[in-house]
Amino acid sequence: MSAHVSEKIIIALDVPDKQKALNLVHALPSARMFKVGLRLFTSEGPPFIKELRSLGKNVFLDLKLHDIPNTVADTVRVCAGYGVRMMTLHTSGGREMMEKAAEAAAETARRTGRPKPLLLGVTILTSLKNEQLEEIGMPPDTDAQVVRLAKLAAESGLDGVVCSPREIELVKKAVGKDFLVVTPGIRPAWAAAQDQKRILTPAQAVRQGADFLVIGRPIIADPSPPDAFDRIIQEISA
Ligand code: C5P
Repeated sequence: MSAHVSEKIIIALDVPDKQKALNLVHALPSARMFKVGLRLFTSEGPPFIKELRSLGKNVFLDLKLHDIPNTVADTVRVCAGYGVRMMTLHTSGGREMMEKAAEAAAETARRTGRPKPLLLGVTILTSLKNEQLEEIGMPPDTDAQVVRLAKLAAESGLDGVVCSPREIELVKKAVGKDFLVVTPGIRPAWAAAQDQKRILTPAQAVRQGADFLVIGRPIIADPSPPDAFDRIIQEISA
């Protein structure tokens, strides 16, 4: 059970530079997947992705791509070439953008013989509330928008979505259990919520059907990241 559970956890490397990131990677030998976001990728670039790969780690490259279909597809090809395991794009980029991205990922995997990166759609950013959706011309109903965009992502060939823990069941019910759900906003009962508002504990999120949990501060800001990681695995397995 534990090996399986630890593979569900993605450690968010929300640190400014490569040295701090590598300290965490070395402190967490049983963690299999690490998330590199805009900040770390902008500061350290592709060499850091290659370094993580050479350490045998899986990479979740969270760049939330959103551009015209051709540009996004070309960028997916580049990322797939680095051997990333998962990457993100905005579903609001539309059907053609997602379809071209999915084709690019599959085609690069065939050409390189590497596994196809899992493409995850960002639906509605969890920082946006109903009033703010209205301001940008979307119906002011986050849940309905998340479901609509998740369905479009599935039809367009994406592998899953990133969404808040309170949307896990909604998405699984609307799109089906095989469509991956990756969720941040995870707080063990013993950790502080910080700025996350819609939180679930790791065990609750897994019970609701989350396939992967993105966890940052409860592990990386703990006085002992390996202990925090182990406590979370135990909590889920219990
Ligand atoms: O430290 P914490 O566990 O809150 O980190 C969660 C990670 O997930 C961060 O990298 C954050 O940027 C990311 N994230 C999020 N909410 C989203 C999308 C991504 O917290 N809606």
